[in-house]
Amino acid sequence: MNSLIVTQTTGFSMTLIIGCILFLLDIAFGCPPGWTTFNTSCYHLSLEEESWMDSMKMCEIHGAYLVHVNSASEDTFTTNLMVTNGAGHAWMGGSDWTVEGMWVWEPEGELIQYSNFAGGEPNNKDGQNCLKKGISQHYHWNDQDCDRLYPYICETTNKDGNPVAG
Ligand SMILES: *[C@@H]1O[C@H](CO)[C@@H](O)[C@H](O)[C@H]1NC(C)=O
Repeated sequence: MNSLIVTQTTGFSMTLIIGCILFLLDIAFGCPPGWTTFNTSCYHLSLEEESWMDSMKMCEIHGAYLVHVNSASEDTFTTNLMVTNGAGHAWMGGSDWTVEGMWVWEPEGELIQYSNFAGGEPNNKDGQNCLKKGISQHYHWNDQDCDRLYPYICETTNKDGNPVAG
């Protein structure tokens, strides 16, 4: 009887201690395991390949969205994430599905301000409405057929993130 209570108490304390450690790690690093911090967001590069729409759904399932790249430094950060993990290409959360030539961040439909398209892109070749970047265009942006399969980058807010100027 006594040993059962001791065991339960010890188990409870261990749970508390482990809980505290995980909580402190979360404060220290901000992003959950498998996610990388930059500025006020957390990012996850998926190495499995999906269509643009499935990529968007997978991000949403994980409480995130397909990445919105809003600055040159965020562009560089996401490119480095791809290079580090050996991803030659990646979907981003932009599309011009609603109005041809008007690029917005989905799903909000917020007009894209910063952009980094490759020369001659976007060209809407055979009706390309989804945004990606890849090694073949030196990680400049390109419009692509939404059904093509690529790795993708999810982004979510990092509540503990330290803002980076720019
Ligand atoms: C960092 O995040 C803030 C708030 O989201 C944003 O205004 C700023 O442009 C971001 N800086 C960079 C370098 O992306």
